[in-house]
Amino acid sequence: MAVLETGDEVIVPEPCFVAYQPTVIFAGGSPVSVPTYVSQDFQVTVDDLEKARTPRTKAVLLGYPNNPTGAVLERSRLAEIAEWAEKHDLLVVSDEIYDRLVYGVEHTCFSSLPGMWERTIVLGGFSKSYAMTGWRIGYAAAPPAILAAMRKIHQYMIMSAPTTGQEAAIEALKSAEPYVESMRQEYDRRRRTIVDGFNRLGLDCFEPKGAFYAFPSIKSSGLSDQEFSERLIMEEKVAMVPGSAFGQSGAGHVRASYATSLQNIEEALNRIEGFLKKLRA
Ligand SMILES: Cc1ncc(COP(=O)(O)O)c(C=O)c1O
Repeated sequence: MAVLETGDEVIVPEPCFVAYQPTVIFAGGSPVSVPTYVSQDFQVTVDDLEKARTPRTKAVLLGYPNNPTGAVLERSRLAEIAEWAEKHDLLVVSDEIYDRLVYGVEHTCFSSLPGMWERTIVLGGFSKSYAMTGWRIGYAAAPPAILAAMRKIHQYMIMSAPTTGQEAAIEALKSAEPYVESMRQEYDRRRRTIVDGFNRLGLDCFEPKGAFYAFPSIKSSGLSDQEFSERLIMEEKVAMVPGSAFGQSGAGHVRASYATSLQNIEEALNRIEGFLKKLRA
């Protein structure tokens, strides 16, 4: 709302967090989806973005580390996007809420790239790094003129973040640093268990490098992602989200969250194994 005029287009690579397109529409813009595929490691390229660009393009909305795929964009790839954004005078909205949860790769903050501070809105929050989902503390970092417009809208739509959440966030910043790293290591263990588990079961799984999701292909099951998820929860009480909920390029995959105990993950894998045996019998 702070940056879009009615009909402005925002390029949104997908699969992506379900709120991106509706948020663009809510702000009066038109989302333009750019599909990415497992064959390209779910990495969006400048070529893909350029094909989607029109004279009405105002911004690109990036969400890496990605929900649902776990893909992380390398610095060199981000730098190419930065150059492209500058050339065409585009804004970049970069949702970096999983910035602390990366495994064996480095996260690059988009606004730290040369020339990007002036044109980037970085979004973050406490939900993921500090396991504060539901405490409603998020933040935006952007050039002052954009923040001033965001503040005006925020003041009348939201009033303020909850006091309890703010107090918890202050405490998290003061004392939780060691826990962030130990949880990152724990997520990494769970990540390896779940990815190995899916591959062992014949559900080919892209290796996620960030966030806390695995996004295996379920094509070998012969079911659609909706059927797979629906039957799995009804028959085995294991919840996974159909990949197509995150955009058409997510079809044929399901999203599993590993923000749960190793014990739960192992139990879920056992149940999925039983489910697949029944299907293949
Ligand atoms: C990519 C991404 N961005 C933003 C959010 C929003 O998080 P919250 O509303 O808990 O701050 C989520 C939550 O799932 C997410 O996955």
